[in-house]
Amino acid sequence: MLAVALAAVVCAVLLFPVAAAAHAVLLKTTPSSSQSLNAAPAQVQLLFSEPLDPVFSHVQVRNASGQLVDAGDSHVDPANDQLLAASLQPGLANGVYSVEWRSLSAIDVHPNQGQYSLFVGVPVQANPAPISGAALTAATPETTLGRWWFYVAASLFGGVLATWKLVLGPLLADAKPELQSTARRRTYWLIVGGGVLLILGTLFSAVAQAAAAANVPLLGGLGTPLGELLLRGRYASIWWPRLGLEVASLLLIVFGGIDGLASECALATLPAVLLTSALTSHGAALPNASGPGIAIDWLHIVGACAWVGGLVALAAFLPALRVGSDSGLTPRQLVGRFGRLALLAAAVVLLSGVLQGALEVGSLAGVATTLYGQLLLVKAGLLALMLLLAGVNEWRARAAASVGGVQLRAFGSGVGIELMLGVIVFGVAALLSSTPPSPAT
Ligand code: HEM
Repeated sequence: MLAVALAAVVCAVLLFPVAAAAHAVLLKTTPSSSQSLNAAPAQVQLLFSEPLDPVFSHVQVRNASGQLVDAGDSHVDPANDQLLAASLQPGLANGVYSVEWRSLSAIDVHPNQGQYSLFVGVPVQANPAPISGAALTAATPETTLGRWWFYVAASLFGGVLATWKLVLGPLLADAKPELQSTARRRTYWLIVGGGVLLILGTLFSAVAQAAAAANVPLLGGLGTPLGELLLRGRYASIWWPRLGLEVASLLLIVFGGIDGLASECALATLPAVLLTSALTSHGAALPNASGPGIAIDWLHIVGACAWVGGLVALAAFLPALRVGSDSGLTPRQLVGRFGRLALLAAAVVLLSGVLQGALEVGSLAGVATTLYGQLLLVKAGLLALMLLLAGVNEWRARAAASVGGVQLRAFGSGVGIELMLGVIVFGVAALLSSTPPSPAT
């Protein structure tokens, strides 16, 4: 069932073209494209809504026959990192010129591109190309897949570890040694597997991000684009600490196990790892509210990874519980303790999600009419389904007279379905994080 969910999400992410304006929105061009100029300008300037990455942002100008007529000095203004400029060759003839630009937001590292026309000594055409132009590309399928991979792996590593520390470990303290060792072994390998996946996902995301920034296919991101991305700038200042924390926390688990100080240190690093995602989320780009935007997004992803990771830990533990039928541990105890953690996580996800949705979209109309808003509605629907299922599962577990009973089996498959929904919501979240909040913004 989980394999079906994973396959479905990968297909959706790869096939779902995210065609919309990325976050560094083009606000103003000088000279403007809506006037006829007496003479060709010495320079074109493009003002964006966010700071630009100077290496991956550039502008060039072509004449009507496609020849480049700029001076080849495209640059982000050192005095204003939201301004992209290029000088034009002197003595250009009258005619229609095409200004083609590509930007990489230095905040959410979403690439964007566009084109507009300049009218020199000729009347402005009736329907000039829109300022932001056509063929807008935001996040690529690979960068979206990288985000989803991160959410799933972070849940496998951090969510499972948190559930072992807060739910399973304490519950098993008085259980039979066989059940304890089976559960500990399963949970240990789940967490180690999650840690390895997290590191591989972070490496994959860097290559995908470099390829998107340089506008080349995935493997083209290796080499210079990757070097440029990881050796300077904001993305590098977030990526290296993320990788370092992931490697350190995995080594703590591998050599220190899932009990004791080592695992507590590993668990303590997870909120910092998740913060690196919030630092490149849309919340970080909220005008005049990036601090609250980052904090709310961070709370949201912590809650989501704890919830989904908890479901993974539970789904992996139940078969061991069925085998150890005389373990002295009842489903009622299990769901009682796990239910409290899941309820808290779900409440955090719901409140922070609605708040962040309100901050990003800003109007109910925007929720109904924008791609971003519609993805939010899909998430709200999936959340409602997950909560409903959680309620049914809780009832089943409390009704389960014995660990071998029918009700416990039904509880197990209910947990499996809830988990599958969680993995699908992560896919929608990855698409959401790659889609611009709303045109109004
Ligand atoms: C009422 C339901 C929900 C709402 C309104 C909501 C809203 C949001 C919003 C606005 C974002 C920010 C996206 C961006 O960067 O622009 C987000 C991100 C995210 N959501 Fe939700 N969400 C909901 C439910 C869920 C659920 C149930 C889960 C998982 C179990 C989840 C997991 C995530 C994740 C992992 C992110 C990405 C955070 C990041 O990249 O930093 N959300 N959500």
